[in-house]
Amino acid sequence: MLPHQIQTKPPIPWLGGKRRLLKHIKPLIPEHQLYVELFFGGGALFFDKTNPKPVPAVLNDIDSELVNLYRVICHHKDEFVRQFDHMLYSREMYNQLKVEAVSGGLTDIQRAANFYARVRQSFAARADSGQSFGLSRKTIRAPRLFNFAQFEQISAKLKTAIIENGSWQDVAYRYDWGGLFSLPIRLIGKRKAIKVILILSNIKISPNL
Ligand SMILES: C[S@@+](CC[C@H](N)C(=O)[O-])C[C@H]1O[C@@H](n2cnc3c(N)ncnc32)[C@H](O)[C@@H]1O
Repeated sequence: MLPHQIQTKPPIPWLGGKRRLLKHIKPLIPEHQLYVELFFGGGALFFDKTNPKPVPAVLNDIDSELVNLYRVICHHKDEFVRQFDHMLYSREMYNQLKVEAVSGGLTDIQRAANFYARVRQSFAARADSGQSFGLSRKTIRAPRLFNFAQFEQISAKLKTAIIENGSWQDVAYRYDWGGLFSLPIRLIGKRKAIKVILILSNIKISPNL
């Protein structure tokens, strides 16, 4: 199967991810020649979305650790996976990774592996320095930290996109060719307010946004 026809899952869980809303979002997607995600995050829609024909995609997020992870999975997948040969799901390992993350001196591949392992092991999938090791009391065994079965597909899919690391306004202005943009908006549901991605077709972005 070709990369633009692949449906896969995001490599990491991400706060505010839209996986559970995909069934509502996907029917709203109009035909498009360019696909731009300005707040990429976990990329639930991009990884799930398939196209019969290749469509240029631009994936942007302001978080440079997250963007480094995607670039490394895209271009250095095998070296990335090798970083986990001796890594365990453990509180000690997690605390060690936190120390290494702030002490610096890591290569981009090591940084990506460090970030990935911290997100997978932290409470609520957060990589902030104040975050702590997370293990549910209901979990009998440690969750599978390093499930790389889908990484071949994830890497192939990322190779179809341009990955940007900027503010959404800059990227929207740069790629304003009348494409399909995804922007977060607030929708008020009956019971609670939820943030979803609104698909806007052919919007024009002003540089003053
Ligand atoms: C809720 S997440 C996006 C969720 C994503 N659509 C998904 O399904 O997983 C929001 C993302 O926007 C990014 N972000 C926040 N402010 C931004 C800005 N000014 N420009 C670009 N990205 C930004 C954050 O780093 C975060 O990853």
